[in-house]
Amino acid sequence: MNNQYQQVYVWSRYLRLFHWINVLAITILLGLGLIIFNAKTLGVSVDGKILLKTLHVITGYVFAINLLLRLVMGFFGKGYERWKKTLPFTKGFSQELAEFKQQPHKKYKGHNPLGKLMVGALLLSMCIQMISGLIIAGTDIYYPPFGQYFAKSIAIDSSKLDLIEPYSKENVDDQAYLEMRDIRKPFITAHVYAFYTLLFLIPLHIVGVIVAERREKTALVSAMINGYKYIPKKDNRDD
Ligand code: HEM
Repeated sequence: MNNQYQQVYVWSRYLRLFHWINVLAITILLGLGLIIFNAKTLGVSVDGKILLKTLHVITGYVFAINLLLRLVMGFFGKGYERWKKTLPFTKGFSQELAEFKQQPHKKYKGHNPLGKLMVGALLLSMCIQMISGLIIAGTDIYYPPFGQYFAKSIAIDSSKLDLIEPYSKENVDDQAYLEMRDIRKPFITAHVYAFYTLLFLIPLHIVGVIVAERREKTALVSAMINGYKYIPKKDNRDD
């Protein structure tokens, strides 16, 4: 290492773990989601669809728990886990953006302002996926946290909820079922549009990391593995 540079610990063990669990969960969710989306064209059977949706929802729980923990850490965590150092539009952000434009070689300990915009957009799309996903999991395969509620709302005999199964009409009131499908519609639409948004944002995020690394040369990529960046000892850097 050049002795003008120092090694600084930026991404905590918790943040790195969140990041890689998130990458893995989203990759599986995108893959399964794509198959569910094209199930008709692919000729997937009803049992196959139920299996795919169940796997998607179980992976969705891992994704949701990981994301909820991250949201909490934004308020109670330390250093770069906190929202102040993660999200755009906090106090002083427009100043940060102006400096970013004026000083192209400025080094950043945390995210540069464009990085903060990207993280904000990613987290927002992921929250929309989590909320819409948890709701449609209840209307479709009657899984928690809303499965019991929706099953009750469509049951002819609510003492026999165990008879209500995915893609079956047993113990299901036709009119109540249609009403439940109407409630579900906007959440499916949100789920699909947030999916398209993520398909656009994820490659952009990767390109952004490559461009930022070429511009700042702080070892951005390995920092998300070992936690350390390399920045000048003084001047031309952001704390
Ligand atoms: C980044 C996260 C996620 C992505 C990219 C994603 C993507 C998708 C896609 C593309 C579909 C197909 C939509 C369609 O057929 O119209 C889908 C369906 C579904 N997703 Fe997700 N999803 C995510 C998270 C979740 C979560 C957290 C849950 C719940 C725990 C969930 C539950 C469901 C369910 C139940 C369906 C089936 C809906 C149907 O009946 O078609 N998803 N998802």
